Amino acid sequence: MRNLLDTRSLSRADAVRILDVAEDMADTQHREVKKLPTLRGRTVVNLFFEDSTRTRISFEAAAKRLSADVINFSAKGSSVSKGESLQDTAQTLQAMGADAVVIRHGASGAPRTLATSGWISAGVVNAGDGTHEHPTQALLDAFTMRKRRFGADSRGRALDGMRVTIVGDILHSRVARSNVWLLTTLGAQVTLVAPPTLVPQDLSAWPVRVDYDLDHAISEAPDALMMLRIQAERMSAAYFPNEREYARRWGLDARRNAALSPDSIVLHPGPMNRGLEISADAADSPRSTVLEQVTNGVSVRMAVLYLLLAGADDEKEDGR
Ligand code: CP
Repeated sequence: MRNLLDTRSLSRADAVRILDVAEDMADTQHREVKKLPTLRGRTVVNLFFEDSTRTRISFEAAAKRLSADVINFSAKGSSVSKGESLQDTAQTLQAMGADAVVIRHGASGAPRTLATSGWISAGVVNAGDGTHEHPTQALLDAFTMRKRRFGADSRGRALDGMRVTIVGDILHSRVARSNVWLLTTLGAQVTLVAPPTLVPQDLSAWPVRVDYDLDHAISEAPDALMMLRIQAERMSAAYFPNEREYARRWGLDARRNAALSPDSIVLHPGPMNRGLEISADAADSPRSTVLEQVTNGVSVRMAVLYLLLAGADDEKEDGR
């Protein structure tokens, strides 16, 4: 794998392979010595132009557990504030020896520009770009669903027939987009639930059903319910007039959480707006996988960095 820019172009075989390598990585995390020597001598740069807790820290943990060196770059406090361009910033970091660049950027398409412009030779991983995609979030969500469904028997499996309902601010959500493409590639059926103003206008290319009524969607007994964060920073009053009304009609509260099937799980990519899209009872209930998702994120990002930086060498050795 040269880059990971989206899930839309990921094949089913490649997606299952990433999840299987993540299983191997997760197994190593139960050992007394968690660190693997695999990426010794390699450097991973975290290039973050937008804020992050989970993604940046888990990429750092993943790289360190594979023995890579890590350089963390945050646009805040950097020469970006003096007008330095993406090209000059990336080339400066490449000159310090970057082998892989993990980029989060407010502009949709920035990771692809970095990967295809010829500015740098390092592999590029999209850690979230505008409203476009967040592929490693979708991979860790799929990993979490697969693990809850198949347990120790997960390897080699996809998510055929699984019914996943994604609820909330679809319009602004790169997490929703990456999940729609990945989950359908893996054989799941995806339903989107949102107020009409938070659904993209043209969904003709999306392999989804749309429902505007959360209680109706819950009555259809989804296997997984994914609650999305209301992205206040990208919102205008035209999309989102009233928090109390939103929580009442589209929030997951204790009553709706109890109405889900006994085996249904509840996901949230974080950070959560407790009391808005999800209540504290629902977020902390046994069916919530919020913290499992965070733990699984490290294994999935280890798998992605491994396949990006060492996988090609291993495939050459294997004659693949
Ligand atoms: N889920 C997610 O991307 O969280 P962060 O913004 O904290 O990285």
